Amino acid sequence: MANMRGGFRALPWANQLLSYQRPSWKCASCKIARPAAIHSLRQHATTSEGASSKPYYITTPIFYVNAAPHVGHLYTMVIADVLKRWRTLLGDNEAQLLTGTDEHGMKIQQAAQAAGIDTQEFCDRNCKTFKDLAQVANMDYNYFIRTTEPAHKDAVQYFWEMLQHRGYIYTSKHEGWYSVSDETFYPQSQVHLSLDPATGRKRMVSVETNKEVEWSSETNYHFRLSAFQDRLLELYKTGFITPEHYAGDVIKTVTSGLTDLSISRPVERLTWGVPVPGDNTQTIYVWLDALVNYLTKAGYPFTPGQESRLGWPADVHIVGKDIVRFHCVYWPAFLMALDLPLPKNVLVHGHWTMNREKMSKSTGNVVNPFFAIDRFGVDTMRFFLTYRGGFASDADYDNAHIIRDYNKFLQKGIGNIARRNIVCAKGELRTYIVNALNDVSKVTEEDKIFQAELEQLSTKVTNHMEALNPRAAVEEIMEFTLQTQKYFHNSEPWTDRDLKQRVLFNVAESMRIVAILLQPFMPTKAGEILDAFGVSPSKRNLSEAVYASDPDYGENVDKKILFPPLVSNW
Ligand code: ME8
Ligand code: MG
Repeated sequence: MANMRGGFRALPWANQLLSYQRPSWKCASCKIARPAAIHSLRQHATTSEGASSKPYYITTPIFYVNAAPHVGHLYTMVIADVLKRWRTLLGDNEAQLLTGTDEHGMKIQQAAQAAGIDTQEFCDRNCKTFKDLAQVANMDYNYFIRTTEPAHKDAVQYFWEMLQHRGYIYTSKHEGWYSVSDETFYPQSQVHLSLDPATGRKRMVSVETNKEVEWSSETNYHFRLSAFQDRLLELYKTGFITPEHYAGDVIKTVTSGLTDLSISRPVERLTWGVPVPGDNTQTIYVWLDALVNYLTKAGYPFTPGQESRLGWPADVHIVGKDIVRFHCVYWPAFLMALDLPLPKNVLVHGHWTMNREKMSKSTGNVVNPFFAIDRFGVDTMRFFLTYRGGFASDADYDNAHIIRDYNKFLQKGIGNIARRNIVCAKGELRTYIVNALNDVSKVTEEDKIFQAELEQLSTKVTNHMEALNPRAAVEEIMEFTLQTQKYFHNSEPWTDRDLKQRVLFNVAESMRIVAILLQPFMPTKAGEILDAFGVSPSKRNLSEAVYASDPDYGENVDKKILFPPLVSNW
């Protein structure tokens, strides 16, 4: 697998954050440093680009309700939630996370028809499954949008009228290949004849997605996409796309020339959508409708002077690599046409595959995320998906890998270290903590090396998170967990606990800091670890992930088994 860390950019304010974060050995100095640091952190948390203050705003794609969600959708939800919860860890309680469902278009219309159910009822049912998933995934979202909501329909029609008013919409005859599954037209160069392996039937399919296309010739509305080529190319120079890995193809497509985009369908073909304002013979193209959802929840149409009050422009749109073109070409072009501020970043992730083929609702080669969560627990799934999911590359899904990673990092790793540490202290952990804080004489070379590593951990993790790379962040934490295991084992504190109080303290510090940093990834389990060590709920922020900075924990520790062995009789 490619190096996941390549291609990620550090955001400009990361350094400032890091300089305050640098852990201090001595308690006294960090006590002095902290209030000012928190103040500057809060400023970062709520301030974007200098003067204008707005909430940090994160989005997921809105998912089609044509079928039930699978592990791929769970993955996107979890990545988004990890970024949101990271903001909370920073002390930012204003961050906004938007998710939801995309309920219009040919694909939904046909799926409802095939199911023999009224289309709205079909949407209601399937939307509920996505909402349920967001809930069982423990997603801390602020709003779940549905494109069938009246407020969204109004926002889309207003957006359309503005595009028209500014002269970016015209009618003309459109001929091309349309894929209902991908909800997009493909040019001749992007389709080819292929044999359906299931039926032996010859059909035209998209080169990119292998989905069937049908010829369509109709008069509809077009958007002057071609007018935005130069501005889009300028945009890509600003690091709009993360990881940069994906920018290459986008730049190539845009450089090779953009054709105007068909943005409506005749109502005889598509009824299930937002009508074109003032023309009831046409329905708005589902992707224009869908992309506007990010604005709807930010309060569009905006009250003058209040444009950024609810978070616009988005700080990060999280998307799978299947929908890069829509988010990195069409969406910024639509926004440019209306002189609206552009999102700051599109964070693209790779696909979960089954036997190397994309897991997909329409193909049906999917893993039911509810079953996976039932079997392994929500935090194990959140850990596994973030730890193994790819950004620049795909990841193949395998239950055996979940079990392997759980055993190594959670059960034998964190769970075992935490319990052994507490057990080894024989009810005296609090005393060892107090003694170690007051007495720095019994520190060996090995202890110093370990401490130096521990002091770096929060900074390293912060760095990855600021570069929008949660996978590298969790890798860093897991690497350190293994280091702790080794240090604990090699130091043998059980041979002489008093002489080796520093080891017991350092391992407790490792668990405390690891658990603070893991909160965005495994909110419940991380909370349980912190509870087990008696860490006060008010001391679980990122600013507390500093070596020797919490003099108060270690009372009422709990030896409970945090990560029980997985029962293997499935
Ligand atoms: O495209 N691996 O909806 P959709 C990882 N409605 N992530 C996956 C995945 C996989 N195998 N399969 C799906 C749409 N996803 C539009 C979006 S946004 C304005 C409109 C995730 O139901 C991933 O985030 O097909 C992907 O981009 C998204 O689900 C597509 O979901
Ligand atoms: Mg899809």
